[in-house]
Amino acid sequence: MKLTVVGGGSTYTPELIDGFARLRDTLPVEELVLVDPSAERLELVGGLARRIFAKQGHGGRIVTTSDLDAGAEGADAVLLQLRVGGQAAREQDETWPLECGCVGQETTGAGGLAKALRTVPVVLDIAERVHRANPDAWIIDFTNPVGIVTRALLQAGHKAVGLCNVAIGLQRKFARMLGVDPSDVHLDHVGLNHLTWETAVRLDGPEGENVLPKLLAEHGDTIAGDLRLPRALLDRLGVVPSYYLRYFYAHDEVVRELRTKPSRAAEVAEMERQLLTMYGDPALDEKPELLAKRGGAYYSEAAVDLAAALLGDQSSGPAGPSVEGGGGRRVGGGSPYQVVNTYNRGTLPFLPDDAVIEVPAAVGPKGALPLAVPAVDPLYAGLMANVTAYEDLALEAALRGGRDRVFRALLAHPLIGQYEYADALTDRLIAHNREHLAWA
Ligand code: G6P
Ligand code: MN
Repeated sequence: MKLTVVGGGSTYTPELIDGFARLRDTLPVEELVLVDPSAERLELVGGLARRIFAKQGHGGRIVTTSDLDAGAEGADAVLLQLRVGGQAAREQDETWPLECGCVGQETTGAGGLAKALRTVPVVLDIAERVHRANPDAWIIDFTNPVGIVTRALLQAGHKAVGLCNVAIGLQRKFARMLGVDPSDVHLDHVGLNHLTWETAVRLDGPEGENVLPKLLAEHGDTIAGDLRLPRALLDRLGVVPSYYLRYFYAHDEVVRELRTKPSRAAEVAEMERQLLTMYGDPALDEKPELLAKRGGAYYSEAAVDLAAALLGDQSSGPAGPSVEGGGGRRVGGGSPYQVVNTYNRGTLPFLPDDAVIEVPAAVGPKGALPLAVPAVDPLYAGLMANVTAYEDLALEAALRGGRDRVFRALLAHPLIGQYEYADALTDRLIAHNREHLAWA
């Protein structure tokens, strides 16, 4: 099996390599290609990647290249994990919206729109080239904003699935709290990427007992503390929102906080400097502790499970489910279904069929098919519908450009909504992103 990682020079890559090494029975990678425009990063990250494989006795070959076309040749799956403009562009996204009293965040609100506008054209170009190199390759998209980027890929006809680590992170956390194996915890996870709620936590699969009330009763303070939302709010909702919902439920409080501290981008940039120095040390042969301070925990495990399911069984386990057949069987030691981003196709009846949603799905070589979702409380459905409309307009703006399309997306966003703010944010977005926007 050959896998290609676009953005392979990311400081996150050792997390992925560690997962590939530990979980090689689930996903037997023979060749792993790291593609990145930066030769320096490829040398540092590629060197550490080889040492991690060697230490863990993984026989797979690691290749580094700046040539995407060569790197994608013959790949069974291609993972996209890139950030157009790097942390410098992210820092802008997190800063200028604050001038208008709006949250500055890399995927939520006006900053998220800026990221979508920079990213969609680049990802579509990469996907075209991947398709030319190997039309059968699966594209696994980690590149944010995952919902909008996945929709762009699907709409262009690509074999793509979007992935985020929020669900797997909560699954692992709840499993620890309940004292059970993570594979025994099923989440009724519903929403759009970075706009999700856990409406039930079940033991032993999608039909299992819902232990969310017990979890909230026993661990509500910890869960609320991690989300930085009041415990009383969780008790009133009776569900667990993702931490991205804090930007909605406590928007003004977050804006006040963000104004008084360095941006997350600045923090991450500093960590990246330290990480790259560590990666250059020939004695380092495992992922460093410092990486745990990044937001990407467990993303390698999510990637391994998803790639294993999409590529069918290439190990000794039973065959993966076909999408028609539904979930239920285990794929070579991985999970029978995963939380992914894919077309709605009637799963959430209040959203268009071609909206991209984030829900548990049966995944097999034919793709991802969402499991049935119980009726969604209007309290959450309304916000999902509103943000879906924003994402639709954001994708229009990313594909076709123009000030007016940017304005329409911002005006539609539930955290913006007023024309004066939308106008002021449109001007700032364009001014700060001119070098990345072909039409500006
Ligand atoms: C979580 C999100 C990712 C996001 C990351 C940011 O993992 O699911 O989509 O990219 O956090 O982490 P960072 O360490 O860069 O702030
Ligand atoms: Mn994410």
